[in-house]
Amino acid sequence: MSDLIATNAMPGTSNWREAIDPLTDAERLEIEHLASHYPRAQAATIEALKVVQEYQGWVSDGKLKAIADTLGMSPDEVDSVATFYNRIYRRPVGKTVVTICDSVSCWIMGYRELQEKLCAHLDTPLGKTTPDGEITLLPTPCLGACDRAPVAMVGEKLVGPLNVDELKALVDQVRGQKL
Ligand code: FES
Repeated sequence: MSDLIATNAMPGTSNWREAIDPLTDAERLEIEHLASHYPRAQAATIEALKVVQEYQGWVSDGKLKAIADTLGMSPDEVDSVATFYNRIYRRPVGKTVVTICDSVSCWIMGYRELQEKLCAHLDTPLGKTTPDGEITLLPTPCLGACDRAPVAMVGEKLVGPLNVDELKALVDQVRGQKL
């Protein structure tokens, strides 16, 4: 299993499908409300994953199983949706997630330098969280903003075109707060 945090990593243990971490009342109510908008509850899978992530910061194996039970799905079906959607985190992340696009346009326009210098600035490798738990750095495929390459997401904010100093300043700015 890759050491990289988790937008699309395999779950951590062989018996992960048996783990359960019950939904909180708030999580359950929101998920049931969202599911009621669809003819089939399974259509609300992405929204359900986002609800849990909003409350917990990430989606554990146990929460994923609880979502599956609530929506009448198997854990593997829910996990395949979580895997497909690269902003669902299957391992704990920092308060702010910074994702740097490593697809072709951004690569040509300076991804490598951005990534290396930001990792050095934060003293944290790609795929990891800073020791203070503030920032997680992740690569991401094309963010659909190639005309602004190189781009990154700092929290929920798309930024670009960026140079190294701008990205470092942005990341310093969000340390200690959540975008
Ligand atoms: S290649 Fe980076 S946004 Fe498309």
